[in-house]
Amino acid sequence: MCGIFAVIGSREVSSLLIDGLRKLEYRGYDSAGIATIENLNNDQIGQLNVKKSKGKLKNLSNLIKQNTPKGHVGVGHTRWATHGKPDEINAHPHLDSSGQIAVVQNGIIENYRDLARDLKLKGIKFTSETDTEIIPHLIGLEIENSLANGLSQNEQTLLRAVQKVVTLLEGTYAIAVIWSKAPNALVVASGHAPLVLGFGEGEFFCASDTPALVGFTRTFLPLRDHEIALLTPLGIELYDDDGNRQHRAPSLLEGTELFADKRNFRHFMLKEIYEQPETAQLWIDRFLPIDLPSQNSVALPISKSILDKIEQIQILACGTSRHAGMVGAYLLEQFAGIPTKVYFASEFRYAPPPLSPNTLTIGVSQSGETADTLAALRMEKERRDSIDDDNFSFHQLGIINRVESSLGRELDNVIDIGSGIEIGVAATKTFLGQMLAFYGLTLLFASHRQSRTPQEILNLSNDLKLIPKQLTDLIKKHDSVSKEIAHMFVETKDVIFLGRGINYPIALEGALKLKEISYIHAQGYPAGELKHGPIALLDQHVPVVSIAIPGVVYEKVLSNSQEAKARDARLIGVSTYGPESDIFDELFTIPDVSEWVSPLLTVVPLQLFSYHIAAHKGLDVDQPRNLAKSVTVE
Ligand code: M6R
Repeated sequence: MCGIFAVIGSREVSSLLIDGLRKLEYRGYDSAGIATIENLNNDQIGQLNVKKSKGKLKNLSNLIKQNTPKGHVGVGHTRWATHGKPDEINAHPHLDSSGQIAVVQNGIIENYRDLARDLKLKGIKFTSETDTEIIPHLIGLEIENSLANGLSQNEQTLLRAVQKVVTLLEGTYAIAVIWSKAPNALVVASGHAPLVLGFGEGEFFCASDTPALVGFTRTFLPLRDHEIALLTPLGIELYDDDGNRQHRAPSLLEGTELFADKRNFRHFMLKEIYEQPETAQLWIDRFLPIDLPSQNSVALPISKSILDKIEQIQILACGTSRHAGMVGAYLLEQFAGIPTKVYFASEFRYAPPPLSPNTLTIGVSQSGETADTLAALRMEKERRDSIDDDNFSFHQLGIINRVESSLGRELDNVIDIGSGIEIGVAATKTFLGQMLAFYGLTLLFASHRQSRTPQEILNLSNDLKLIPKQLTDLIKKHDSVSKEIAHMFVETKDVIFLGRGINYPIALEGALKLKEISYIHAQGYPAGELKHGPIALLDQHVPVVSIAIPGVVYEKVLSNSQEAKARDARLIGVSTYGPESDIFDELFTIPDVSEWVSPLLTVVPLQLFSYHIAAHKGLDVDQPRNLAKSVTVE
């Protein structure tokens, strides 16, 4: 989703801005822009230069090559359209009427219509359809007032104007502002949308996410909600929303592969699919103990008091993370015996269930920045904090891939799935990491509560330890199988995915992957539901992908698949090889594993299937249209 990168220092910043924005490209965007201030006469007044373009960043960088904006301070933005079409006019930065103030913004200003109406009554003319444009106009008016009251044209005036204007904004925002009359200042502010400050040598940065800082500095400090910072070539001043100066020590970015390269893979998505055995092995090494099934022996950050107390679990997440949560809920209920419900975070926010006592709330998010998930967790915390009864306290856990994210910072207990940075918008290795976190929780609860026999717990643990090797073989095999058959589905318009039990969420995930990157309409159903409606869609043009793994629902899924085949649907199986395999027109074979661990494997051919269809169609696999890696708006 939208990305911000801003810098102030002693170097020319245009190319730095493009470099920073490039590292945020993976988040998804549809236009980009930068503004710099060229310091013309001795620090007193500068000239604002703005360049914007529709589409990919390379369009902007070509534009800049022809005529490079000069300046040692600048703001940059990649925009994912919310208000107004993805075109040059709506691209950020946006300017005030005098053309002296430039603003980039992430988030959504919910009261922008009211604010715009007031501004129009004051004679302000708008040039874009965005919610953002009110911000430079408001700052412009505020500065005009200050100057009329005798304040000078300097960075403090800009800072004060921003401090006042943010109090008018409702919704979520992260902004970076420059003013041509204060060429040594960059002011940034955050209201429920992430921003991090970066401390370089003689230069200072601000970005919507840490990967943008890589290559510039490793020293960073996340802004807290409603904090404002003034960046100058000499340093950074940080203020809370009451204008009190804040002093916090910055942290050091960890990890060597914060910004990964594609190696020899054609796309990041394929590379990330291939990294799944490593994700699984790292997880096993970190979390799966040798001495299972002794109590509490899974090395997860869950206190004994939580394990003792929890009577039910609720999982809040969106998209693929919700599918991982569904696999988790199946395991927690069916294996560990704990009632568990999964909610769309966006629905939970506005229609939460009645409060239940002794409940563990789990937020699942690879980015840790998903606005709906964050808001749902905050809302749940607030309503539990307002009750004076210990049984209703907020026990929370985050399952994330970015410990330095907003979710990581806000929750006391997190499981870091440690999958490494994922660049492809379509989640693959992080989905595996999330599912593995739930296997860990399941083992932990089951052994702590003795809801399964030691042998059953040991069997599950041993089966998990085989997964990395099985994944390696599976990926190799199905990479070529799916590449071979991809061409058959290039003209396909609709695909139905069927699964049952623990593999129903995998049917949903398979359908989501196909929609996201190949733009083929796909729907996942619990196989038993086929005959209750979706079967009406079937004919020879609508393929059915059926996940049939020996276990409690194997025969049932096979019967449901037969029903599809009887309607001439082309049947693609994700199944073990056996006498029943001949019902499938195409078969992705899965090793003969216990049904409990099967989702860790059945998802792989579906990821590869979607990948090869999209790649065959020549689509932008890593940055599919309209999608974003971090969905930071509601
Ligand atoms: O960062 P999160 O895991 O919270 O993201 C949630 C969804 O936006 C995400 O899973 C989305 O569905 C992906 N594009 C899936 O590939």
